[in-house]
Parts: sequence; C-alpha cells; structure tokens
Amino acid sequence: MPRKPRARLGYRVLRFVAVAAVLGVAALINIPLGVSFARDQLLTWKLDSQSYKSRYGHWSTLVLPSQYRVNAIHAVLLRTGKVLIVAGSGNDRGNFDARKFESLLWDPATDHYQLIPTPSDMFCGGHAVLPDGKVLIAGGTQRYEVLAANVTRAAGVVTVKNENPDLGPIVLPEGTRFVAPDGLAFRSTATVEITPATQVVWGGHTVIVPSATQTWVEAVNEGDASVLTHETHLAIDAVAGAAQHNVYAIAQSLTRAKQEYQGTNTSYLFDPIAERYERVSNLTLKRWYPTLVGLADGRVLAVSGLDGFGQLIQGTNEIYDPATKTWSVAPGLPRTFPTYPALFLMADGRLFYSGSNAGYGSTSVGRTPGIWNLADNSFQPVSGLRDPTETETSGSVLLPPAQGQKVLIVGGGGVGQSPLSTSRTDVVDLTQSDPHFAPGPLLQAPTRYPGLVITPDDDVLVSGGSEGYRGEGTATRPGNSDLPYSYLYDPRANTLTKVADSHVGRDYHSEALLLPDGRIATFGGNPLYDSTGKRPGVFEQRIEIYSPPYLYHDPRPTISNAPAELPRGAPASLTMSDATSVAAVRLIRPSAVTHVTDVEQRSIAVGFTQHGRTLDLAVPGEPGLLPSGWYMLFVTDGRGTPSMSTWVQVP
Ligand code: CU
Ligand code: CU
Repeated sequence: MPRKPRARLGYRVLRFVAVAAVLGVAALINIPLGVSFARDQLLTWKLDSQSYKSRYGHWSTLVLPSQYRVNAIHAVLLRTGKVLIVAGSGNDRGNFDARKFESLLWDPATDHYQLIPTPSDMFCGGHAVLPDGKVLIAGGTQRYEVLAANVTRAAGVVTVKNENPDLGPIVLPEGTRFVAPDGLAFRSTATVEITPATQVVWGGHTVIVPSATQTWVEAVNEGDASVLTHETHLAIDAVAGAAQHNVYAIAQSLTRAKQEYQGTNTSYLFDPIAERYERVSNLTLKRWYPTLVGLADGRVLAVSGLDGFGQLIQGTNEIYDPATKTWSVAPGLPRTFPTYPALFLMADGRLFYSGSNAGYGSTSVGRTPGIWNLADNSFQPVSGLRDPTETETSGSVLLPPAQGQKVLIVGGGGVGQSPLSTSRTDVVDLTQSDPHFAPGPLLQAPTRYPGLVITPDDDVLVSGGSEGYRGEGTATRPGNSDLPYSYLYDPRANTLTKVADSHVGRDYHSEALLLPDGRIATFGGNPLYDSTGKRPGVFEQRIEIYSPPYLYHDPRPTISNAPAELPRGAPASLTMSDATSVAAVRLIRPSAVTHVTDVEQRSIAVGFTQHGRTLDLAVPGEPGLLPSGWYMLFVTDGRGTPSMSTWVQVP
C-alpha cells in the first residue's frame, strides 16, 4: 500500500539537503553532468513528496519477472481480486505461427503471477463478465493480416450458390477449383458445405430461394494476371455435368490487396475460482473485434467484428444465454456498427452507443451515437457530439454514479490511419427525453486510446493514449506521440484536473482498470514505431500503478462486516470498524477492457442511513442500473477517502 508514514519526511528533507549540496558543489566545480543529475533528483524528490502525492497522486512501475511478461491485449478484474490479462498471440505473428497463446493471472494484492494455459488465440476477441463471475470470451484470431506486398496470388471471397432444392448438401473440400469463363483458375482454402436451395410458398406460388455460402479462394497462378475486378461467374470443378447450371460461384473481386485479420467462432468461460478456461458452444459467426455487452437479464449480446474472411459483419448480432451456454442469432436485431462499438446498458434496459469504436468499419455506417432499443430494434440518434468524425479510438464511460445516466466520450481520431485526433471531451445526459451531447473540458493534447477508470469517489481517471495513430509521430510530437498526461475528470463540475504524469506510454492495445484497494493499474501499449519513428515499436510489457490522492489521506474508513449478497431492492446493512462519518457507498462493477473499450465498469450509488458503526443500505432495484454480478463495495468518507473494497454478489 502506498500509505507512507510521516516519519519518512525527515529522510526526505535530508535527501533534499544532500541534493542541494550536490547542486552547490556542481556549481563550484562546474560539472554540467552533475547539474542534470541533481535536477532529476529534485524532480524525483518533488514527485515522491507527501504533499505532491496527496494533491496529484503517484505512479509507480511494476517490472514483471521475465517469464511473466505478456502482451496485454485484454484485462479483466475477477471477483477474486486478481486480474486476468489475456494476450493470446499478443499481436505477434511469431507467437501465432508457433500457436503460442498466453494468459497471465496477476494478484495485485501480493504481486503473485501465474501463467494460464490458453486453448486458442483469443487475441482481439470480446468479453463480458457473467452474473456468476465467470468471464465469457468469444471470438479471436483465425489468421493474421497479409499486407499487400506479401499477397502473391489474387484472392478473396466468392459466394457459392445452389439453385436446386434437391441437390445437396455438397461438401467442397479444401483445394476445390473454381474456373472463370476465360480459364483463370482459383482454389478454395477451406472445406465448405453447400446446402440445397429452399422452397418457400409465397402468395400461393412456390418460390425457390438459392442457398448462398461464402468461401475464400486464391489464384492457382501467382501474379496480376489472375486479378478479377468485376463480377464473374465461376464454374466449380467438383460439380459434374448438368448440376453445374445449378451450383456455381460468383466472385465480386479477387485481388492482391491487403487481406485483413480473420475472426474465429470459438467461445470460452474463464472460471475465476478454478482459474482455467472452459470451452462453450461456438458463436454463430466468426468474430474479430466484437463488443460483448451484458444485458439486464444476464444474457450477453455480441455485436460487430470482422468475420472469417476479414469482412466487417453486416448487422448480424447474437446472444449468449448463460442458462444453456449457447449462442444464437438475435432475431430482429440487425444493426451494423464499426468494430468494438462502445455500448452501455441503460437503466431502462436500452443500449447507448457513444460513437466510440476501435479498428475497422465503414466511414459512414454505424458511426452516429444513439440509443438502441432492443425491444423493437429502433435507434434514436443523439446529436451534438463535437468532432463527430473522430470517434475511432476514443474512450467512453458511464459516469459515476450510474444513476445520473451520463456518458463521457474522450478524445479519438479519424477512421483508420488518419492523422486527425481530437482533444474533445463531451457529455450526454441520457435521462433527458431528447438527449444531446454537451461540451466537456478539453484535454491538453489531442488523444487517441485514452484509458478511463472510475474512482470510488466519483471521478474518472483519464490517462495514457497517444496523439497519433498507434503512437506515430506528429508535427508537434515527432518520433513517438505517446502522452504522459493524466487527469481526474469531475462529473459534478464537468472539469478536468491535471494530476501526476505517468512514466510509461500507452497507446494501441492498452488497458486501465480500478483495483479492489482503490489503486489503478495500466497495461500494454503497442506502438507502430519506436521513439525514432523509424524502427518497429516494441510491445510495452510493464504494468504501471496509479495511487490517487485519496490514498495519501489517512486514515481510510474500514468496512468490518458486509453481507456476501446484496439482492436488488432489498434491505441490507454493513458494519464499519468505527463511527467515521460516511459520505457515500458505491458498488463498482469491475472492468473488462480491451482496445479502449470497457462497457462493464460502472459505479452505482447505494442509499444509506448511518447509526454509529452501522449503515442500513438501500440497494437499487433496477437490473439495467445494477445488473446481476460481482461488485466491489466501497465506503467513502467526507474527504473522499475510500475504504478498501469488499466483494459482494448481486444475485
Ligand atoms: Cu494505501
Ligand atoms: Cu487489436
């Protein structure tokens, strides 16, 4: 714990005197190196001083033993207080080719580490924490991207059609040849099953609806001669004779363009008690970069992603039912979003899309913020967002307390590798009948990939990020544009206050989350280039920990006894170790974060009346506000100093 005894102040004064002496000697004998050393010592002395830390907080860096250093792509706080850090292949092609998939369990209370056997490449999947505290992880990486320079054969997706209701199913093995009228030949790269056409009775007539199945093909010959850029009918070698009229393929374009990452359909639960993965039924679609959002009834909705061919999924969304451990297509809910859309469960069960997203998607479709009503699939756009074309790689958070139903959006940039980024923060109040974004304060610099973390005293820590795409240098920040700035956003005053700078840059593939003791941990960072702006960047594997100012305000209130379960809308009480005046009680749902997307974290105010050491609690009743699951219960005193949290389950 960063709480520092006052006795150390004497040592600090001594050290300051020593540093001043070095400065003095350096001045007398004129050693410039000594001056710079002394200046660093002075800065360190300032950052370590109790008065500085109690105003601005303090960052410290955790260097992991080498065997536990993994590329943190996903980070989830478990009900045990441990953090599940999922790397999968960790955006490392060598790992992927070697099928080296990693997860690390870190206990921040003890700094104990443990590698977890990881059965598939969960890199860039989605996750949600279920009511029982297990983590549902779905999708991930089937194949890495192939840059245009490495695409030697024209390739792409073809649609195999079967117009015959009596023919099939037909299995087309991997390597099946597809031939264009001019003789150009392609072959498939996976086995695919073609179903018969279906017959539908419509208006008294029987109509035949051909089946349509997508598969990936590549040219038999290398080079540009096999490139197809217009719609082309392909005959399938494996289909003989007359059946070729009924079963054929249509190609739209088969080119040597860059091939995107491809998704998987595998799905797992991580059990925080057994500390291992358990396979559950597959997603109905392969998904890479999906968002998984928990619904008010405990089911989970999976939205967007790239499919098994690296194409953006066009509106097919699906639901996981914890009771059956199965995924099924959500009927009547087609809606297209860019990848990793930020979707927040509202108190009334609707979903708010802040506009934040990360990675891939159309420049126009699905980028408008709004309220998605799952009851009728309607979508009410929310206007007023400044820099509306710069929502990619922005951060969003349901502001504390969640009863306010306000969402903050922070920073972001243009689509893809755009050089544009913004310092805008905007806030929307979803309790209004026609909500609009209103301006928030500006960040010190335009920021992509900001980490946003709710604190127990109702602020939001904004930290990390970079000005350029994946830390790329900009006009104002050449070389590497990672930002050291941290701020506390105060939702009551709609203000940002600068706090201590972090020491480690965090950009793409980075995460930040609240720990059960009130500290904040940050992970990852995947810059395109190193600080020279020319050589490839190195994945950041250090963990950094921020201790907010409230951890330097002794003493902390202490919960001595809390119920294990807090049913919604039911009376409950807890006991404090003394009669310190309590100002607030919060239930904070732990983070599950990847790609600046964390739709899990939320802080719910719990009403209370205090008699001495006892607090009688009024737990909110709405499942959209307080979904079932495990929460950190924090009690905060009148100076904003939180207790250590205690874990409670909302059944
Ligand atoms: Cu402490
Ligand atoms: Cu990614």
